Amino acid sequence: MEIIKVKNYDELSRISADIVGKVIKEKPNCVLGLATGSSPVGMYQNLVSKCKKGEISFENVTSVNLDEYINLPITDKNSYRCFMNDNLFDHVNIDKKKTFVPDGNSLDTAKTCREYDAKIKDLGGIDLQVLGIGDNGHIGFNEPSDHFTLGTHVVNLTKTTIEANARFFDDISSVPTQAITMGMGGIMGAKKVLLIINTPRKNGIANKALFGDITPQVPASILQLHKDVVVVMCEE
Ligand code: GLP
Repeated sequence: MEIIKVKNYDELSRISADIVGKVIKEKPNCVLGLATGSSPVGMYQNLVSKCKKGEISFENVTSVNLDEYINLPITDKNSYRCFMNDNLFDHVNIDKKKTFVPDGNSLDTAKTCREYDAKIKDLGGIDLQVLGIGDNGHIGFNEPSDHFTLGTHVVNLTKTTIEANARFFDDISSVPTQAITMGMGGIMGAKKVLLIINTPRKNGIANKALFGDITPQVPASILQLHKDVVVVMCEE
C-alpha cells in the first residue's frame, strides 16, 4: 500500500487525477471504477481539464460506478447517474453507452445486481477503482456489517450514512434509505485501487481501516488485503 500525504484538497485532487490519467494513458481502453460523493469532485474537475487540453482521452474508456440510490429517478440531481453526468461524463469525450451505473429503479433488483457483476466480468474486470470513504468506514455503500458481501447487492443505509448524505437533499426525509452497491468482490477484483481521503476529519477512520483489524465492521479495512492500493490523504 502506498500512502501519499498531501497538504490540501486541491493537491489531493491534482494527484488523484494524475493517477487516473496515467492509467488512461497506459491503457486507453481501460475500465474505470468510479465513485460519487464530495471526495472525487476535484479530481473529476482536473480530469475534465486534462481532457480539454488533449492530455487524455476518454474515447475508449469504459466506466462502472460503485453504487446508486434505490427509487430515486435518474433525473434527480442527487442520483449518482446525474452526479456522474454533471461532474464528468457531460464534459469529456466518453461514450455514454459505455458508462454503467447500477439501475436503482429496477423492478427486479436481484437480476440487476447479478447482471452488474456479469457486466464487470465481461469487461475483463476493473483496471482502476476510485473510492472515497464514509465516516463509518464504508466504501461504495458497503456499510458496516457482520460479514463482507462479495457481489453487487441491495443495502439498507445506516443512520450515519443517511445523516451524512442529507446535506445534498432538501431534508433528511428525502434521502433514500436503500441503495445498490458493488460488493467487495468487484472492488477487490480491481487491478488497482485509489482511495481518496478528502478531509482530515476522516483520518481517524482511515487509519483504523488501513492499520487496524480487518473487519466488516470497518468495511474499508478489507483493502489491506489488496495488492495495489494508493491512498491519497489530506493534512488540512
Ligand atoms: C457516499 C458514497 C461513497 C462515498 C462516501 C463518502 O455515501 N456512496 O461512494 O465515498 O459516501 O462521501 P463523501 O465523499 O461525500 O464524504
